Amino acid sequence: MRVRHRGARRRPYVVVTEPEGPVSREPAEDVRLQKVLARVGFGSRRKCDDLIAAGRVTVNGEVAVLGRRVDPESALVAVDGAPIGVRPGLVYYLLNKPAGVVTTADDPQGRPVVVDLVPAEPRVFPVGRLDLDTEGLLLLTNDGELANRITHPSYGVEKEYVAHVEGSPSRSGLRLLREGVELDDGITAPARVTPVEPNVLRLVIHEGRNRQVRRMCEAIGHPVIRLVRTRIGPLSDRSIRPGAWRHLETDELRALERAVADA
Ligand code: URA
Repeated sequence: MRVRHRGARRRPYVVVTEPEGPVSREPAEDVRLQKVLARVGFGSRRKCDDLIAAGRVTVNGEVAVLGRRVDPESALVAVDGAPIGVRPGLVYYLLNKPAGVVTTADDPQGRPVVVDLVPAEPRVFPVGRLDLDTEGLLLLTNDGELANRITHPSYGVEKEYVAHVEGSPSRSGLRLLREGVELDDGITAPARVTPVEPNVLRLVIHEGRNRQVRRMCEAIGHPVIRLVRTRIGPLSDRSIRPGAWRHLETDELRALERAVADA
């Protein structure tokens, strides 16, 4: 999968040729910073100017001054240290993945795939992966930088699952899950585990190992019957029907970016 990184594209230039004079090169798409901020939900242009004047906005790591213009295709803009999604064309879909759909863009076996559940253009890819039979929240985007941060273990973004298991885990089983379970690829990091019903557990983990929750529950003798992801970092929504999706709200995107910036 090709993932384009924020800021990796060259700044586009237009060549302006004057009849008798020299050739000058100017950035094609420089936009006032306050306009860029306003566009992604930081309030009126006046409010955005206040943010800039207060020294809370950086462009490529430097504190911005009033009147600053940026290339929204390549500038890394941050407010209070949290990068904002400024590139036009970036999309973020929150999908409620049903069981039986593969978390990929293309399945050689011809099974239904998650990208078929969201608009075909612009092309997006799933952030991380849910097993074929796992249901619940899945983010799809064309923002490679954010996707990498969310999935990279060093950022430790929390994911919450509700697992329906066989039987009722004992206190010692729950303690094992909380302290770390020995799996064939090593001991798991401590998980937050709350029994919701005798055979239903809510687990919060921040690792992203293959089939991790299923293997953890299996390891304590309670195989998973049904698994639903109910939260990705700050994102949760119980109102999305299975197979349906919605755009992320600006606030949610900002919260997500803050979650990976803080990490
Ligand atoms: N853990 C699992 O076991 N499966 C998933 O799909 C996600 C987390």
